[in-house]
Amino acid sequence: MQQFQDWSGALHARAMRPGVMGQLMNMPAQAREEHQACIRCHAPLAEQADSLVTAISRPNTKGTGLHEQGLVCAACHVRGHQRFGPARRDGSMPKPEDKLPHGGWQASAAFADSRFCASCHQFEADGYALNGKLLENTYEEWKASPYAVEGKQCQSCHMPDRRHLWRGIHDPEIVRSGVTIGVAPPRVEAGAVRAALTLRNTGTGHHFPTYVTPKVIIEIFQEDSAGRAVAGTQREYVIGREVALDLSREIADTRLAAGAQAVLDYTVPRRQRAANLVYRVRVEPDAFYTGLYRSLIADGAGKGEAMIRQALADSLASHFTLFEERRALGAAAKYSVPTNLSGGSLCR
Ligand code: HEC
Ligand code: HEC
Ligand code: HEC
Ligand code: HEC
Repeated sequence: MQQFQDWSGALHARAMRPGVMGQLMNMPAQAREEHQACIRCHAPLAEQADSLVTAISRPNTKGTGLHEQGLVCAACHVRGHQRFGPARRDGSMPKPEDKLPHGGWQASAAFADSRFCASCHQFEADGYALNGKLLENTYEEWKASPYAVEGKQCQSCHMPDRRHLWRGIHDPEIVRSGVTIGVAPPRVEAGAVRAALTLRNTGTGHHFPTYVTPKVIIEIFQEDSAGRAVAGTQREYVIGREVALDLSREIADTRLAAGAQAVLDYTVPRRQRAANLVYRVRVEPDAFYTGLYRSLIADGAGKGEAMIRQALADSLASHFTLFEERRALGAAAKYSVPTNLSGGSLCR
């Protein structure tokens, strides 16, 4: 079944990975309310709350508890033993005479609406905020974007053709679809290299990125003919919302609202060894968690330690290069023609 195959590889199916479990393991086994603070989004079924209690009280039994399956089909498709889903693609609804399994299902327009996702991807208005901004505000960011006006819902971008993949910041392809990157080629003037790298949010339906967890680094540096970075020539600009590990304060917020852009202006003396100028955009999808897991391990991660170590390794393994391009640092005149990338404009 297509939905099952898709879901199995999606982060919704892995919502109880070691980073979450490692933290839950250190909660008292019977502290169901404390568990709910996490699993109401990560593993919301009542049966999952039960199997989690068992797993915490008997940490050494390798189980196949239902909680391990994360955000399961039923969490979205079942309410009070009744199955729900979107209307069929032709707009029709199931009828009693269709004799469908499990007594059929009820069609609900809610499935095609952004509000369906908001229950887990948007904090309530009185929820946790820093510097006057909610920690999770994706639905409101979307509502303030042109996509809401156009009627482009979360599902349009994250469930195209009703696929159950929910690809996001961990997936290079969808991240590329959400931005336009422009390179201003190098000019060498009075011994200095001048260049710029721009990144515009042209296709992300909310802030780029929406959460406090990812970090996007745009950088330019000089490189020698052997492909080695020349020390002291790197300049960078970080896009993201940086918060303290204990969530006590916001350190910086340079996320890009829909349509907004970031520019890295580069003016650095040309080093003799330099042959090329390198433009690069790197993504660290779980940057916040990398820091959090390191501090949990430093403070003693208790029963959850092995899991937290695994989660730390996973968070580092998720880094990827979104964009990279080299331009030769030759005679200035040769590079006067600007080039456009990803169909974007040279937005300066
Ligand atoms: C019951 C709660 C819940 C609902 C409803 C829900 N999500 Fe999620 N979603 C989560 C959780 C929890 C994660 C994080 C999983 C993980 O990485 O551990 C997540 C992850 C994601 C990601 C991946 C983010 C990344 O880091 O790459 C995307 C995209 C996403 N959801 C989109 C949606 C969309 C679109 C909808 C509505 C159709 C939706 N979600 C409905 C809980 C939910
Ligand atoms: C309102 C819904 C919600 C609640 C409540 C919630 N989370 Fe999450 N969590 C998410 C979403 C959505 C993501 C995906 C964010 C992303 O990918 O940037 C996520 C991602 C994570 C991740 C990183 C992904 C991974 O699996 O390693 C960890 C760890 C995590 N949450 C732990 C927790 C813990 C611990 C709690 C309880 C103290 C909690 N969460 C409560 C929605 C929620
Ligand atoms: C995060 C919530 C969520 C989870 C988890 C989820 N679904 Fe869905 N499902 C949806 C939404 C939303 C739609 C409607 C999408 C649309 O209309 O664009 C949908 C649509 C469907 C459809 C109709 C598809 C079509 O082509 O008409 C089926 C069948 C389905 N889901 C089955 C499943 C199965 C099986 C699982 C588990 C393997 C599952 N879903 C997990 C939210 C979810
Ligand atoms: C116009 C297309 C579009 C729409 C509409 C859209 N998204 Fe996204 N979304 C993206 C792209 C592209 C990314 C990857 C870049 C990024 O992470 O910001 C993304 C990333 C994400 C992520 C990954 C975490 C992060 O920090 O960025 C989550 C979660 C998410 N979207 C949820 C939602 C929800 C919920 C809605 C509806 C309220 C929504 N999206 C609407 C395109 C869209």
